[in-house]
Amino acid sequence: MYQGLNRFLVASLPYLPKALVGLVARRYVAGETDAKALNVVRELNSRGFETTMDILGEHVESLEEASAVAEAYAGLYQDIARMGLRANISLKPSHLGLDIDLETCERNLYQVLNAAADTGNFLRIDMENSAHTDDTLTLYRRCLEHYPQVGPVLQAYLYRSRDDLAGLMSSPLNFRLCKGIYRESPEIAIQDRAAINDNYLALLRQAFEGNAYVAIATHDLSLIAWAEELIGELNIPPSRFEFQVLYGVPMEGKLEALLAADYKVRIYVPFGETWYDYSLRRLKENPNLAGYVLRNLLRR
Ligand code: FDA
Repeated sequence: MYQGLNRFLVASLPYLPKALVGLVARRYVAGETDAKALNVVRELNSRGFETTMDILGEHVESLEEASAVAEAYAGLYQDIARMGLRANISLKPSHLGLDIDLETCERNLYQVLNAAADTGNFLRIDMENSAHTDDTLTLYRRCLEHYPQVGPVLQAYLYRSRDDLAGLMSSPLNFRLCKGIYRESPEIAIQDRAAINDNYLALLRQAFEGNAYVAIATHDLSLIAWAEELIGELNIPPSRFEFQVLYGVPMEGKLEALLAADYKVRIYVPFGETWYDYSLRRLKENPNLAGYVLRNLLRR
């Protein structure tokens, strides 16, 4: 029943007033401007959280726009340093021009990486849908040759992630492990939720046994508990991992409990003018997210 409701809600969203969608999106997006998002980061830092900032946007089609995005990210590293915030940056390759061509994206990535290097900061390269996986991992490997503080994302729903992880671990690796948010075909991606969790834990074990640093990105409280069990079983020190969640997702006090256990918790803080289009696209790609939004609306 939930799935039908979710699909209905997604279909209705474009017809709802933008302000109404904004009421819901506000919880998940840290404002339209750098200044607002930096304030949110400062507040999260004061509560003990690390952060990663993302300027909303993807699938840029013009060279000018892609280069403006790179400039904006470079400026953001300077702002973070100037304000002394505990924040790094996450970005989507298609926001830097990957849909135009690999070289454009690579050029723009180097501009962002130079700013990361100038300020001694880290860059996370988000993973988009499977059409981009090979190119994104190629770009990551090239970036790593220039600057060590860069890391990719692997998606537990993809069958290929096991081999990708094995290959990436031939160099020092700091990666984010998530379930995966895009709709992918059964030929390449696990569809069953329990089986995705099993693969998530198998990848986590593989990463810990192989010496990678893992950003354990999930809101799934059971999965977090199983990850904690694995950390205990393998006796993994807190310097080898962190937990990550998206800004605004209700976590029932679990984040504070993780901080109290001396674990690092990083909150992904998206912001920017394109919050509306972004939210709609996200919801269309994954109608289940609409269910979260609906429950949120009902709670109000
Ligand atoms: P699951 O979907 O089982 O959700 C667990 C519970 O969390 C749900 O029952 C719900 O209550 C709540 N919840 C989850 N997402 C929510 C949301 N958006 N709003 C409100 N409540 C929500 N994916 C990808 O393909 N590439 C990437 O680069 C990233 N990057 C990334 C960074 C970070 C920090 C996180 C936390 C997630 C990502 N993801 C991602 C998304 C990820 O792949 C996955 O789709 C979502 O996190 C949802 O899966 P969960 O692991 O949270 O479990």
